[in-house]
Amino acid sequence: MSDLNVEKSDERPDAGAVDAETPSASAPAARDGERPLAAMGHAASRLDPNAEPVLSVENLKMYFPVKSSGVLRRTVGHVQAVDGISFQVPKGGSLGLVGESGCGKSTTGRLITRLYSPTGGSMKFGHDQVDIAKMSNRQLKPLRRNVQMIFQDPYTSLNPRHTVGSIVGAPLAVHGVVPKDKILPRVQELLEVVGLNPEHYNRYPNEFSGGQRQRIGIARALTLNPKLLVADEPVSALDVSIQAQVINLLQDIQHEFDVAFLFIAHDLAVVRHFCPEVAVMYLGKIVEIADRETIYGSSYHPYTQALLSAVPDVKQAAIGGRRERIMLEGDVPSPINPPSGCRFRTRCPLAQEICAKVEPPLLQIGARHKVACHFPGELGKHPTEPVTTGLLGVDAQGSPSSTGDQPIEPPEAGPGFADRWFDVKSKTMVSA
Ligand SMILES: Nc1ncnc2c1ncn2[C@@H]1O[C@H](COP(=O)(O)OP(=O)(O)O)[C@@H](O)[C@H]1O
Ligand code: SF4
Ligand SMILES: [Mg+2]
Repeated sequence: MSDLNVEKSDERPDAGAVDAETPSASAPAARDGERPLAAMGHAASRLDPNAEPVLSVENLKMYFPVKSSGVLRRTVGHVQAVDGISFQVPKGGSLGLVGESGCGKSTTGRLITRLYSPTGGSMKFGHDQVDIAKMSNRQLKPLRRNVQMIFQDPYTSLNPRHTVGSIVGAPLAVHGVVPKDKILPRVQELLEVVGLNPEHYNRYPNEFSGGQRQRIGIARALTLNPKLLVADEPVSALDVSIQAQVINLLQDIQHEFDVAFLFIAHDLAVVRHFCPEVAVMYLGKIVEIADRETIYGSSYHPYTQALLSAVPDVKQAAIGGRRERIMLEGDVPSPINPPSGCRFRTRCPLAQEICAKVEPPLLQIGARHKVACHFPGELGKHPTEPVTTGLLGVDAQGSPSSTGDQPIEPPEAGPGFADRWFDVKSKTMVSA
């Protein structure tokens, strides 16, 4: 943390006593007797099941070529960083994207902001649901301002030689959306929104602490009034005590600006409060996606359950209960040669023969619940027989079915949720 910070130079007599990260110390709103945005109430964000999607991603893929060494540099393989994922982000809502390091989360974020061009799939954006996946840079220019990114590292994502004013104001200048003389007032307005002193626009990033720098990054992302913010681990580099403040700020901003979030994290605890819906990613695939209550209360995928077992459960501790802890051994395998069948099988405590032979499809198994596992079930209640055999036309070992059964039509694997889904107990399709 920098030893110079905005608060210490504040003229308020109590400024030095305030936590360096506390936004109310510098926000003029507080001086005017109003409550700054970040001090408002913070009930957990709620899901609006009827909200139309601002982003609809279908079968999105990103394969990075692996080149041989030497002069010819032939392509000898591909890093399957993102391999056919589908999801939706509701307008003004927030979807959490969670998984260990190397699962393809940042690549997904970079695809959505079109820092990368996808290998395949579609990304339909906005009210008109235009597909931004295949657009050229020229076609993208008017759309770019609608999707902005907040980066993980507040120390490296801001140019140390530029003042905060020019960092936050740069997108306005580039896009020419406001006259030159209106840039500074807009920058100051944004600094105020994120809880920084607007008079400090001419300071440099190194004069701010980590949490304050992340606020600058957030102000920069808001400059063009985006419809969607991709926040790639926005609090991972911050002290735990500061994380909650920055998440609260993002929540306030969401309400104030009606902006949607794709919130990327490697930890399920971080997104719990902010994201009413969470997608869990493993080695380039989404393995489970559901509303908050389902993910945290009755997840069905062994990987989600393993990630959850690392989250301290305050409620269970209070009643003296203990959560069974599942240790994940080893690292995420290489996405150049991912395991056959289910990609999680090399680390899954439940893996059976079928898991190596047949990839489990991402099946909708509830109103807002999808899971990709042959043995889906709550912790300790996983079925002993695979539930997917009838759907896939295979036997319990994953070989083509000898009974002559034709596979039944698997439920639609599109980005959203359908009114009909596969009931894992009866192994039939049921309706809402
Ligand atoms: N530009 C790139 N070229 C080649 N491989 C990449 C590139 N970016 C990411 N990868 C690889 O893709 C996989 C997913 O990376 P990433 O999306 O950064 O994961 P996460 O954000 O979940 O940690 C990793 O194996 C990583 O090494
Ligand atoms: S399909 Fe098999 S290996 Fe994959 S998560 Fe389910 S039980 Fe584990
Ligand atoms: Mg990442």
